Amino acid sequence: MTIIQHGTLVLPDGLMQGDIAFENGVITRIAPAIEAGAGDAVCEAAGCLVFPGFIDAHTHLDMDSGTTVTADDFASGSRAAACGGTTTLVDFATQERGGTLRDALDAWHRKAEGKCACNYAFHMAVTDWNEQTRAELPQMFERGVTSFKAYYAYDNLRLDDAQMYDLLSALRPFGGVLGVHCENGTLVNRLQREQLEKGVIGPAGHPASRPPVVEAEAIRRLCAVAKLADSPVHIVHLSSAEGLEEVRRARAAGQKVWAETCPQYLLLDESRYHLEGFEGAKYVMSPPLRSPADREALRAAVLDGEIDTISTDHCSYRFSDQKTLGRDDFTKIPNGAPGIEHRPALIYTSFVASGLMTAAQMSRLLSENPAKLFGMWPRKGQLAQGADADMTVWDPRARWVIRAEAQHQNVDYTPYEGFEAAGRARAVYVGGQLAAKDGEPSGASAGRYVKR
Ligand code: URP
Ligand code: ZN
Ligand code: ZN
Repeated sequence: MTIIQHGTLVLPDGLMQGDIAFENGVITRIAPAIEAGAGDAVCEAAGCLVFPGFIDAHTHLDMDSGTTVTADDFASGSRAAACGGTTTLVDFATQERGGTLRDALDAWHRKAEGKCACNYAFHMAVTDWNEQTRAELPQMFERGVTSFKAYYAYDNLRLDDAQMYDLLSALRPFGGVLGVHCENGTLVNRLQREQLEKGVIGPAGHPASRPPVVEAEAIRRLCAVAKLADSPVHIVHLSSAEGLEEVRRARAAGQKVWAETCPQYLLLDESRYHLEGFEGAKYVMSPPLRSPADREALRAAVLDGEIDTISTDHCSYRFSDQKTLGRDDFTKIPNGAPGIEHRPALIYTSFVASGLMTAAQMSRLLSENPAKLFGMWPRKGQLAQGADADMTVWDPRARWVIRAEAQHQNVDYTPYEGFEAAGRARAVYVGGQLAAKDGEPSGASAGRYVKR
């Protein structure tokens, strides 16, 4: 048995001073004091918060974008996740056009199996909606996939409104959750051409061709489609105040709409696209970074409880030789940025240490809510007897600076270079095994597939 002693436990109904014991990957007891017997291991957590392990429900590891493959695979991505305090990630298995869901899921299992330092699960991204795809849905649920993704952007991935309607309708009897990338892809194509015709070839063309209205329009349309299908829907990586307004409008009309945002939309802004030279390429992601006013609107929405989850959309490409694919044409810059390692420190520093948010609120956004939404509750997302021993012992006194040279993400930059972090994961347990200590990996491949 292992006992975490003298910690402040972040429980679903508040903080508790106490100890937590676990054995064989499961929490066996929570009490004000648990005495260690001979042979028990002890983790001293005085002065630390003990969170249920953080869940990152939006990652892209070992993903081929057509021109290149993400810098992080499941080994490096899950290791970096664990170092930062994340104990479960949910990645996007992606159907190939002309291919099956089954082949996609098999392929993603091969990418991840035996390599992961933290637990992993898969959403299924549907890119080719047809009768065969429909017929495969039951098999996905049998294999532990309860959530799906569809795109309104990217020519090689997107569905049209009728396909979105069909997919939502088909998922409804299963209680499946559909997350949607909301950007109007045909408008983006048109606006990209416009920028290039004006001679804008650098990173500044990226936000100019994907303004907030392109996101808001897609959210509004998706909500209309979801209403027709009488289905709830999940908006991934919400980035703008205009988009948020559409979420509010649909909710006010009685629709069930979940919303996810990401640290980059809460901490950074579009000024990054106007940095010297090609530097802005580091921040080319979709949707793009927005104005400070958008950022503040989203921060307020997080604090008001309008945002359900904060995940990363971790999708890393090296600056040196991958982002440069778009040196002469911003539309060819691979879309995405790293973040899987730093999300807990970014959110803790910016919201909890600054007094804006409680540790319990952070726990809901980074652990409890994703566990509930994606079918992992009650085994994950809470500290409770019988729950999985996925835990993050968090030292709020730690002070450190985010540096690419010290990170475990397999990429040559971080969007948060120089960020002064307050708080750090001191010990990270994945299924009861120590996966990381003081921001360094233990070397264990403790991660297991989470069949949901
Ligand atoms: O730029 C991004 N976000 N790349 C990853 C794919 C996606 O859109 O989520
Ligand atoms: Zn997306
Ligand atoms: Zn994504």
